[in-house]
Formats: sequence, C-alpha cells, structure tokens
Amino acid sequence: MVVISIRGFNARLGFAVAAAALGSAFQHGYNLGVINAPLSLIGDWMNSTSYDRSEEYLNETSQTMLISIMVSIYCIGGMIGGALTGFFSERFGRKGGLLLNNAFAFLAAILFGFCKMANSYEMIIAARFVIGINNGLNAGLAPMYLSEIAPINLRGAIGTVYQLVVTISILFSQIMGLEGALGTPDLWPVLLALTAAPAVFQLIALPICPESPKYLLITKDEAVAAQRALTWLRDSNNVQDEMGEMRNEAEAAKLVPSVSLREIFSNPTLRIPLVISMMMMIAQQLSGINAVIFFSTKIYQTAGLSEEAALNATIAMGSMNVLMTIASLIMVEKFGRKTLMLAGLFGMLIDVFLLFICLMLKDVASWISYFSIVLVIVFVVMFATGPGSIPWFLVTELFAQNARATASSIAVATNWTAAFIVGLGFLPIQEAIGPYVFLIFVALLACFIFFTWKKVPETKGKSIDEITAIFKQSAYGGNSV
Ligand SMILES: *[C@@H]1O[C@H](CO)[C@@H](O)[C@H](O)[C@H]1NC(C)=O
Repeated sequence: MVVISIRGFNARLGFAVAAAALGSAFQHGYNLGVINAPLSLIGDWMNSTSYDRSEEYLNETSQTMLISIMVSIYCIGGMIGGALTGFFSERFGRKGGLLLNNAFAFLAAILFGFCKMANSYEMIIAARFVIGINNGLNAGLAPMYLSEIAPINLRGAIGTVYQLVVTISILFSQIMGLEGALGTPDLWPVLLALTAAPAVFQLIALPICPESPKYLLITKDEAVAAQRALTWLRDSNNVQDEMGEMRNEAEAAKLVPSVSLREIFSNPTLRIPLVISMMMMIAQQLSGINAVIFFSTKIYQTAGLSEEAALNATIAMGSMNVLMTIASLIMVEKFGRKTLMLAGLFGMLIDVFLLFICLMLKDVASWISYFSIVLVIVFVVMFATGPGSIPWFLVTELFAQNARATASSIAVATNWTAAFIVGLGFLPIQEAIGPYVFLIFVALLACFIFFTWKKVPETKGKSIDEITAIFKQSAYGGNSV
C-alpha cells in the first residue's frame, strides 16, 4: 500500500493534498490532543466560575462530571458529523463540503475563545460539541477528496497522509499546551481557539484547487468540468485515459447496486465481516487508548510526577505515536493485519497490567512513577503498531465495493460511540475505584485478543473474492460469528 514511486506526483497535486490534509486532518488531531494538557486548569476555572455564579464551589464529583461531559461530547458531535458526510459530499461536493465545514470550526473557536470571558462552561461544552461535528465531517470528507484526486499508483500513499497528519497535530497540540506556551490559566482559551488557524489556511488554499473530478463526472455528470479539474491536478492535457477509467468505474458501479443498511445486517455473508469490523473498532477504542490520550497528564499526576515532567512525558508519547504510525504503515504490508492487531493488543494488555501495578505501588519508591511514564509511552507504541490503523484497513478490505460505503459508515459510528463511552466513563470510574479502572481495560483486551484470534481472517495478499469466499463458507458452514 505504501507506494514509493512518485510517478504522477506534481506540485499542484501536492498543493491540493496539503490544502485538504493540513486544513482538515490537522483540525482533527489538534482537537484530539489539545484538551489533555489544560484539563486541570479548565477544572479549576469551572470551579471558580461556579463560585462566581452561585457562591458555591464544585465538589469533586460534579467537577469530574463536567470535565467528562466536556471531553466526551466531542464524540457525539463526531458521530453526527460522520453521519452528515454522505449528505455533504453529495450535495456540496467534496471540496465544497470541506470549505463549508470550516464554518463549524469558526463557531467553535469563538465559543472556545470567549467562554472564560463570559464565565460560561456551557460555552466550552457547546464548543467541544461543534468542533466534534467539524472533525467527524473532516474525517469523512478529507480522505474521500484525497483518494479521489490521487492517481491510482499514489492512492495508498496519499490515503495514509490523513492519519499521519492527525498524529503530528496531536503532538503539536500537546506542545502548544505546555506551560511555557499556551497552557496557562490566562491563555488556555487561546490554545483551544487556535483551532481556527487550520480553517483559515484551508479557506485560503483549497479554493485554488479543483473539485474532485470523480464527483464532477459521476455525481454531477459534468464531463467538461471533470476534465478541466483532472487537467489541473495532473498538470497535463493528457488525461483521456484516466477519464475513460473513471467512466468505466462509474458504469461498473451502476451494474451492482449498493448494499442497504438492512441487507448488510440480514445477509450472513455480509453480517459476519460487519460484526468483525465493528468489534475491531470497539477494540480500538475500549483498549483504553483515549483514556491515555485524553488523560495522560492526569495519569502522570496521579502517579506523583511534577506537572512539568508530566507534560514532557506527554510530548514524548506524541512523538512516539508519529514514529510508530509511520512504521506500522510499512509493517502492515510485511506482517499482515491479524498478526499486527494481535501483537498490538497483547502488548497493550501486558503494559496496562504493569501500569496498574505501578499505580498501586507508586508510594513505595519514586522510580516507580518514572516507570509509569515508560509504560504509557509503550502503550501508545503498541496501539500504533496495530489497533490504531488495522481496523480501518479491515473495513475496506472485508467488503466488496458495493457494500464498502455502508459498512464504513456503520464502522465510523461504532468507533465514535465507543470513544464516547470511554471519554465519559473513565474519569468517574477512576475516581470511584482508583487504579483498578485499568483492570477493566485488561479484561476487555483479553476478550478482544480472543475474538481477533478466533474470528478475524488474515486479509493480507488476498483478493476481495477470496475474502468474500471465506465468509460465504463460514456463513453456510455453521461456523457463524
Ligand atoms: C474549588 O475551589 C475551592 C477553593 O479554592 C477548593 O476548596 C475546592 O477543593 C475546589 N474544588 C475542586 C473540586 O477542586
């Protein structure tokens, strides 16, 4: 999938990729990571805001509740954004949808920027919801645009750009959240409002680029406009072949009607891969990764580290995430999906169990706190090895073209739902049972490992016909999921 050949690459295509990916993936990663560092500052602010408004301080429970809602309502927004992707991409186009989506980013930035001034934690919660919608739409629209403007030999490589930019911007957001940057009691609203920056960039850069030629040709039936767009993107007038290929693809797609939501659940040869895809998404989220990404700074504080050391550790974690994401894109072609998924989950299980022991023993010796930093970083490395990217590979590989869109939208919704559950539940449960919360992840990981081992087929090197044949056999051979 990672194609090293750069035939077909040119400056204009590069510009269009940057306009879409930096403008959108950056937005997505930034908001995944940004809330981590200032979490306790925001908690303090909510507390004093409550006092200003009603002369009553928040107790621990209601403060945790407010923070958890603020963190996790983002996922509800994401779910809605994901569900709107189909409508936006067909009605406004890929480029049009992306441009329009920036309105959500600006609205969220305004709410973030002024919530402190307005003494309103409702505003910050609303802002997280709105930016969630934006991120959900970005996660659907940008990869679609990227894959549709890429020449065939670069599709794999350009397809991975989105994920890579997400991890880089998670890291960037965490650096910006340092105390020396914007992570201070006065500046954290600016830190959150900075999400307007990629939107400004995209509004300047993307209008220069053309709409997706595939959308123009297939959805809008505007052959001349499609050809003009393709000519721009390829920086060449010689686009007749590719226009022909797109037409053929459109004709072929018309012959096989796409699978409906009901059919995908009722037809056993489709239901089995669907259940597998959904389980892999649930495994990705309930592995505990977002507990770590959202709350790592707080975990370090619990382990007894100073704030500065905790934030530095968070940055080391972000850097490893970027490196391992790059490494896994290469490994996935070498070792296969199932192997990497199992290896990653198993590593995470061992790691989170050790993290639990460290948190239990943190008062015994100070080096134990530092060992917990290593464990959190290894946890992220293990996640990036397999569970971070494999579920997305599997969804596209387990289904034929006509079922792929329906299956992906169900998988995306499952992913956001699972992320929401972790975001909402982690802090309150941690407050109630302390480090034992990590034993829940140990148990869940054990279940996911068992399921993956028993039910997930290896898809590496197999054609879609071979993969579908596996499910036909298990659907009608009595070995159902
Ligand atoms: C809120 O602030 C007050 C006064 O500084 C403090 O006593 C109380 O513990 C704080 N509440 C929380 C949940 O941090």
